[in-house]
Amino acid sequence: TCCLFFTPHGCLCRGVTNSVDGRRKTASAVFLRLVAAKRSEMEDFMTDYEGLIRQAMKARENAYAPYSNFYVGAALLTNFEKDGKPLIYTGCNIENSAFSPTNCAERTAFFKAVSEGCRAFKAIAIVGGGQGAPASYTMPCGVCRQVMMEFCNPETFEIVAAISESDYQVYKLKELLPEAFGAL
Ligand code: THU
Repeated sequence: TCCLFFTPHGCLCRGVTNSVDGRRKTASAVFLRLVAAKRSEMEDFMTDYEGLIRQAMKARENAYAPYSNFYVGAALLTNFEKDGKPLIYTGCNIENSAFSPTNCAERTAFFKAVSEGCRAFKAIAIVGGGQGAPASYTMPCGVCRQVMMEFCNPETFEIVAAISESDYQVYKLKELLPEAFGAL
């Protein structure tokens, strides 16, 4: 381990983000808070998205994108558990020669979940890019943001745009879709 704060969630030196200021926090800023924190408080404070990002990367391997050659994977974290693990639905983008039937990775994940009866969500990780490892953060399109708005609390739902398991940005839905139209 590379730091003193190796937790069940992993080493705190990597991938620690906080979406209050919207972006990455340095490990040292996190350390200052954690030194004073009790273990249970530490676990509340930490949101570890490594596992979720890993699942988005795996889902990206199934992306069907022969027209754009832009491959996207998403992993949607629900409020539920299955077999003692967080229940996650994954998705990839699925393109079509007629273009408009194309479905984004995020909506694939949402529609899988909702079609299975799940409508309570915490966060979604998104990984995208051309062939090979992603080089930049992929942000959800406007249509996907509106779908998120339908099923998520914009104040709490988190969007994790990732390049790798340890390099990601976290946004609240409210930040990405301000003044939104929605029934919630
Ligand atoms: N795409 C997604 O799947 N998610 C995004 O967040 C952005 C765009 C897909 C749609 C299309 O298949 C390809 O990426 C290029 O736009």
